[in-house]
Amino acid sequence: MPDSRHPAFKFGFIWAALLIALFGGFAMGAHVAYIVGFGYPIGKSYYALIQTHGHLQLIGWTGLFIIGVSLYFFPRMSHNPVGVGKQNAILGLLSVGLVLRFVVHNITPYVILTAWFKPLNWVIFLSGIMEWLGVLVYIIVLLRSMTAGSAGARLKLETIRPLLLMTFAGWILYTTVQVTLLFDMVRTGELVLDSSWNALSVTAFIYLVLLPVCFAVSIRTFPLYLRLPVVRWSVPAFAGIYFISVLLQLGWFLQPSVYAGIILKNILILWFIWKLDLFSGLKRLRTFFRKEPEIVHRETAREKYPDYDEWGRFEWLIRSAFLWLAVGAILELVSGISFVFNLAIYINSDAVRHLVVLGFVTLLIFGMAPRMIPGFIHVKKIAYPGLVTGTFWLGNTAVVFRVFPILVRGKIPWEPVLGAMYGWSGVIGMAAILLLAVNLYRTARNK
Ligand code: HEM
Repeated sequence: MPDSRHPAFKFGFIWAALLIALFGGFAMGAHVAYIVGFGYPIGKSYYALIQTHGHLQLIGWTGLFIIGVSLYFFPRMSHNPVGVGKQNAILGLLSVGLVLRFVVHNITPYVILTAWFKPLNWVIFLSGIMEWLGVLVYIIVLLRSMTAGSAGARLKLETIRPLLLMTFAGWILYTTVQVTLLFDMVRTGELVLDSSWNALSVTAFIYLVLLPVCFAVSIRTFPLYLRLPVVRWSVPAFAGIYFISVLLQLGWFLQPSVYAGIILKNILILWFIWKLDLFSGLKRLRTFFRKEPEIVHRETAREKYPDYDEWGRFEWLIRSAFLWLAVGAILELVSGISFVFNLAIYINSDAVRHLVVLGFVTLLIFGMAPRMIPGFIHVKKIAYPGLVTGTFWLGNTAVVFRVFPILVRGKIPWEPVLGAMYGWSGVIGMAAILLLAVNLYRTARNK
């Protein structure tokens, strides 16, 4: 018999994600961007910093957020709780692993010529093992929760199941490649992971974990949160073709496959955004029945939305997130087509990557967190709806500052301005994270 007694939302995942983002991932990104943007010399820790920044952002910031929300959201849909002990184990393994990686990979560049280097490199490997185990437990418990229980309960997850299964494949692929690369790094006495395999695992994580989970959550929640039409197309068919496109892209040893994958994948992403109807959907309002009691601080629902402004302007963040995803998809599509037809149009791949991970995924989290998380802890209003607007402006400024300079570098003559924008991008990103953290903290205190 499935157990219907679900444990309370584990806020620890959100705190860990915010702390690792603020003091780890974003702080390291800000540091590197400042050095590069203002022309300071690059130190010997540069590549270790970049790799650790990328890893902390992917697994610590977006990953912990996704794990925390999914362990609350999906077991409730299938009526199969995931126990507190298992959630604690996942949180413990991942946070300790991430903190070890953060601290020790920041030290090794400075002790490379000493006897400390090898043992510390082993500690980094150990951190990878801890993360790998944490992810394994996560996948096992979520898979069990999704597959056990009554057929009726499982049916609720039917539409998005292929997207979720794809994310599991992505988690396993990323963490397994990372552990293998860490072992190789220790074995060969290197300071950093092999860059091409690392880049491949990063791409796998972004397109097999981050995008599918964002798609799944959008499909399930936007009809409710934004009054958008429910999906009337085949999500499994979409997921299947999308999965093939990403596999083609990851087949990096076969050049034609890579570009076929890139072109197909980006067409699918654009098609998905189009079908969500995010930008024209307000014309097609669906009838909405409000189930929760009304909120007192405003008398009437917001025009065209089913809420009373109690979550702030979260939809601005969601719309801008998808706008950045569309820009990233168009740019990567252009670069794929340019390669196939020898057009010599160069698009900076790091700009595309940050349009997706910062512009899309991070802004989507900024928008979804104030809308979703208060409900998880039974609070009917975000503490400061105005701060959501602040997050919108800071978040979007961080995206523009981080991406625009590297897209136009060498094409327009404003080097000092572009450098300064790039240099401040990370600090602005940190300020956005701080606003979200303060807002969620106060909301949790208001419980
Ligand atoms: C404003 C905020 C951010 C700043 C200032 C920043 C800065 C940087 C910099 C300077 C690099 C090195 C680029 C290069 O190789 O030329 C980098 C790489 C990277 N960043 Fe960010 N970043 C930010 C946000 C993010 C976010 C939110 C994520 C993911 C959620 C992310 C994931 C990555 C990844 C995966 C890499 C590649 C790492 C590797 O090569 O192993 N970044 N970032």
